[in-house]
Amino acid sequence: MKIKEIYETMSYGPAPESADEVIQFLDSHNKKFKLFINGKWTKPSSNEYFETINPCTKEVLAKIPEANEADVNKAVTAAKKALPEWVNIGAHKRARYLYALARQIQKHSRLFAVLESLDNGKPIRETRDVDVPIVARHFYHHAGWAQLKDSELKDYKEVGVIGQIIPWNFPLMMLAWKIAPAIAMGNTVVLKPAEFTPLTALLFAEICQQIGLPNGVINIITGHGKTGATLVDHKEVNKIAFTGSTEVGKIIRRATAGTSKKLSLELGGKSPFIVFEDADLDSVVEGVVDAIWFNQGQVCCAGSRLLVQESIADKLYKKVKARMETLRMGNALDKSIDMGAVVAPIQLKTITDLVKQGIDEGSTLWQPSWSCPKDGYYYPPTLFTDVTPSSTIAQEEIFGPVLVAMSFRSHKEAVKLANNTRYGLACSIWTENINLALDIAPQIKAGTAWINCTNVFDAAAGFGGYRESGFGREGGIEGLYEYLKPKADELLSGEPIKVAKKSASKAMSNGQSVGIDRTSKMYIGGKQTRPDGGYSTVVKSSNGDYVGEVSKGNRKDIRNAVEAAHSNTSWEGKTGHAKAQVLYYIAENLAIRRDEFANRIVQMTNQSKSSALEEVDISIDRIYYYAAMADKYDGKVHHTIHSNVTLAMPEAIGVMGIVCPNESPLLGFISTVIPVITMGNNVVVIPSESMPFSATDFYQILETSDVPAGTVNIVTGSKEELAEVLAKHDDVDGIWYFGTKEGSKNVELLSADNMKRTWVNYGKYRNWLDKTQGEGTMFLRQASQIKNIWIPYGE
Ligand code: NAI
Ligand code: MG
Repeated sequence: MKIKEIYETMSYGPAPESADEVIQFLDSHNKKFKLFINGKWTKPSSNEYFETINPCTKEVLAKIPEANEADVNKAVTAAKKALPEWVNIGAHKRARYLYALARQIQKHSRLFAVLESLDNGKPIRETRDVDVPIVARHFYHHAGWAQLKDSELKDYKEVGVIGQIIPWNFPLMMLAWKIAPAIAMGNTVVLKPAEFTPLTALLFAEICQQIGLPNGVINIITGHGKTGATLVDHKEVNKIAFTGSTEVGKIIRRATAGTSKKLSLELGGKSPFIVFEDADLDSVVEGVVDAIWFNQGQVCCAGSRLLVQESIADKLYKKVKARMETLRMGNALDKSIDMGAVVAPIQLKTITDLVKQGIDEGSTLWQPSWSCPKDGYYYPPTLFTDVTPSSTIAQEEIFGPVLVAMSFRSHKEAVKLANNTRYGLACSIWTENINLALDIAPQIKAGTAWINCTNVFDAAAGFGGYRESGFGREGGIEGLYEYLKPKADELLSGEPIKVAKKSASKAMSNGQSVGIDRTSKMYIGGKQTRPDGGYSTVVKSSNGDYVGEVSKGNRKDIRNAVEAAHSNTSWEGKTGHAKAQVLYYIAENLAIRRDEFANRIVQMTNQSKSSALEEVDISIDRIYYYAAMADKYDGKVHHTIHSNVTLAMPEAIGVMGIVCPNESPLLGFISTVIPVITMGNNVVVIPSESMPFSATDFYQILETSDVPAGTVNIVTGSKEELAEVLAKHDDVDGIWYFGTKEGSKNVELLSADNMKRTWVNYGKYRNWLDKTQGEGTMFLRQASQIKNIWIPYGE
């Protein structure tokens, strides 16, 4: 080729990164690895191995052990044994270990990057400039949190042994996101990397040895899904943290239901990339490249749905196509490529099948004119236009380099399209109008909103999903709570608290001012409502005396209540101050009826009047607490390493079901309902089944306190039956349940379908009278989810 020709084509020659050091590493293990258990390389009991390949060449890199139940057992036992000492060495020593891990990763950063690219097929430019720096940063950041644990999170303690299961798209990065916060908070870990990409985790194990990390604090076991499932089922594991497909996430939710294992799930997505007509289109095009062709589109938060304002759609598609022509695809170790290979043949098949389906469903496919290399599992960057919102490719996560474009006219339509998904991981909003961007961001149901940027991550900011994208956060202080439990949980007991009973003689003269011959109605959409089935149930006091009758709600009543809760759109948008005003008003009105509510408690429980008055007074106090918190429980502006302000905004979960405890009829209702509405949720409440009248009387207070219709809906009846309906309901976004162990399990199990956030008590009793158990920020945290909004700021 003549220089002039080279000048004209400007094509690059290959610039391969050397793999020598990686080959040395693989050779040092004879290309046949062992499991890393209790600080030692351990032969698998199964004596079975599988191969991991380089997807760019199909070449086998090494043999990897398949851990079986005995191996999982060994690893969990090692982690459990290591736990007390790891807790006892204290925050500062743990911080030093995390710092040493960060340093060591940095020292070996090129080795990690090359190994990752070889095992996964992703470009060395990405592993070198994105993955590995993020990994080191994660350990540094969490070395800091380890140090600060005792001062900043003193009401919390470690959870115990953590089982962690990670995917293949960011193998080392996902390891860091899981391991760093876990060990920083004093937990020990058993981690299973994905079967396609186990190598960097095994290299990380060597780093743990090099820094002299105490044996058993981190154990790495390899294997397929079955190994993961065995870890999930292990009785001595106290928490599971999983990243991967929504399908497996649901399996894990069901498998852990009722076990009281803590759970965090980072699942799939179909994230919208929204472009308004005033956006800077050249920046948008580069954004699109990062959103969907980064890591071959195998990114959970990939901007895989391009939503464009109609007036600029054709212009943008043209620019995107021109850019696609210039993308370079090739061997992952070539420093000048933009795209490498897809991780495995099965992933290539999934992508190919879904693309075919897109064509069959009538969408228009566009691919660049160049052809893919033939020696590996390559798939070209792909753009679909003429896509209908309900088509398969617009709804299913393709997890490949396939962009699906749709257009919108109005801002309202953009929001509707963006939210037309079962997922809610991220969104990216492009406009030069900051007012518009900040108007749209809160309306999108997603855990991350990137404004004029995309796929930006940092250890200091939380990341995680809404809806079927899972629950829990990784990164930031919000991510630490996934690896902590409130110390107050240790006060929960197997028995409900006892209240002082009134004397027998007094119990005879029950001349209180409460209307006892009235059947209480339910309260739905701001109205007193008769039950759909037309039945009511007699409620007796703990002495067997007749107290009154209560409506027997059924499935239909719950459905109506959920609908009423959804139709109220005014509550969530209220400011903290405005919500506080309503809450104070509730407290004030309850104070006026203090005596009446106390008498009702006496009637139902036969407890002494003074202890009933105490329950009412604590209820008023508690409402004040949440009124005070309404404008004070806020997020943070995170210090990330990027030129952004990153706002961590606590948002309402949506419509929440609350299944109240049976005990403390008034305070149990207040302690659960008030924090949930404080965070802007609308609720459907099932009050105490045996003592429902404190809740049904409460409608009068709601009515006189400016609580909007539909914010609080009360359905009485059989607790377990109604809880089941709520847990199964697809339009309920979260559910709190305070009842039996079986009921807790049932709620967690049935909530898996739409991935409701759940908070259950596994049959343990809280003393609602005690502040440390009955109120606090832990209630507000369970009633909200954090959205991180990234706004360019500074240079
Ligand atoms: P996967 O969800 O099956 O694998 C993720 C991890 O879970 C791996 O370590 C795997 O061994 C483990 N696993 C599989 N079954 C398990 C079980 N029953 N119990 C415990 N652990 C189990 O994902 P897969 O099959 O590799 O990819 C399929 C699809 O999942 C992709 O096409 C993509 O749509 C989605 N995916 C999403 C990811 C994300 O980051 N959100 C990551 C990987 C895949
Ligand atoms: Mg591989």
